[in-house]
Amino acid sequence: MHYFHYIGDELYCEEVPVREIAEEVGTPFYLYSYRTIERHYKTFDNAFSSIRHLICYSAKANTNIAILRIFVNLGAGVDIVSGGELYKALIAGFDPEKIVFSGVGKSDDEIDYALKEGILMFNVESPAELEVINERADVLSRKARVSLRVNPDIDPMTHPYISTGLKKNKFGISFREALKVYERARELRNIEVCGIDCHIGSQLTSLSPFVDSLIRLKELIWELKEKEINIRYLDLGGGLGIRYNDENPPHPDEYASAIIKEIYDMDLTIILEPGRIIMGNSGILITKVLYTKENEGKFFIIVDAAMNDLIRPSLYGSYHRIQPVVEKERDKIVADVVGPVCESGDFFAREREIPWMERGELLAIMSAGAYGFSMSSNYNSRRKVAEVLVYGDRFFVIRKRETYRNLIENEIIPDVLK
Ligand code: LLP
Repeated sequence: MHYFHYIGDELYCEEVPVREIAEEVGTPFYLYSYRTIERHYKTFDNAFSSIRHLICYSAKANTNIAILRIFVNLGAGVDIVSGGELYKALIAGFDPEKIVFSGVGKSDDEIDYALKEGILMFNVESPAELEVINERADVLSRKARVSLRVNPDIDPMTHPYISTGLKKNKFGISFREALKVYERARELRNIEVCGIDCHIGSQLTSLSPFVDSLIRLKELIWELKEKEINIRYLDLGGGLGIRYNDENPPHPDEYASAIIKEIYDMDLTIILEPGRIIMGNSGILITKVLYTKENEGKFFIIVDAAMNDLIRPSLYGSYHRIQPVVEKERDKIVADVVGPVCESGDFFAREREIPWMERGELLAIMSAGAYGFSMSSNYNSRRKVAEVLVYGDRFFVIRKRETYRNLIENEIIPDVLK
């Protein structure tokens, strides 16, 4: 459920006509709905209300500090994967006690930064990382709270690039090795073992992989208990999918009850790291038609947004609905919707049946709130687009469109070339 809807012929975000925003900020831009974010978050949070839990929004889905601030205001924690995300999370106002740090390649600097800020815990992804965290904590005279990210070797049945819980993936510590690593962790002076973590992939549309990996983790938790290693936090990562086209992912209530059924009698705090399920359908990308052309029977709609702004179709072959911002009687054609970047992989849709659009008209690329702007780049020296947040009948630019000056800000022509 989201608040992008037509009133008459016009697409609105909450109470604001999208066309009016485009007239003021220009195109392309990302547009987010506050009310949708809030609704998705509360639905997810309420689904777990019967058990002790902490929702750590997965920042990578969308790291705009205004978006992060919404989650702070809603009482959430945050899942980060870099020093940059830690920095942004702190600026946005997250309580360090609600920050979990995941990722296979945390650098010494990043570890130090997180230790100094006193984050809730590190999700440790290898025995080597565990040793480094212990060393850094020793140098800084801190104690590092850790969870081990266990790789349960479960197939999440999603796109291979976003599947993370298989043996062949780079993530986590193998199930077989985990016990040994826990025992090692217990011996380390500057480590406090407090949790177990797993994240098996993203855009999952069925419950069974979640439940199967949870069952495996439960076995491990019991084994750890026998060895008097006490697990207080069970972090189940993110991964719940959304509808882009005709997928039928489980509702958060179904997801939560499947989990709660497994763990209701365990004395644990559950951590969840949702990203896409909250942000995916809370944002869209608005773009303008620059040209249309026909090459011997093949139609192209060329728009002003490109793969550098939203890379999901190019990278994963992802489907995003595309619809006119102003509806009218139109012929339908089958066309590719493409951007201006010099790559054949620069497309938003291929062979899609779509209404015929005229130069200057606006299109909305739907379900672009997660992994949209956060994966954008400056390829082809294109300026990153603006981001706008609608709040009821008002809208706010939450990131200005980059300027040409921004493009060269950090670049230097050395004297020898002058
Ligand atoms: N926790 C960890 C440790 C993760 O690696 C991720 C996502 C999440 C939580 C959040 O997962 P979500 O709830 O959003 O599924 N760029 C890809 C998605 C990559 C996901 C990476 N990890 C895409 O556009 O589909």
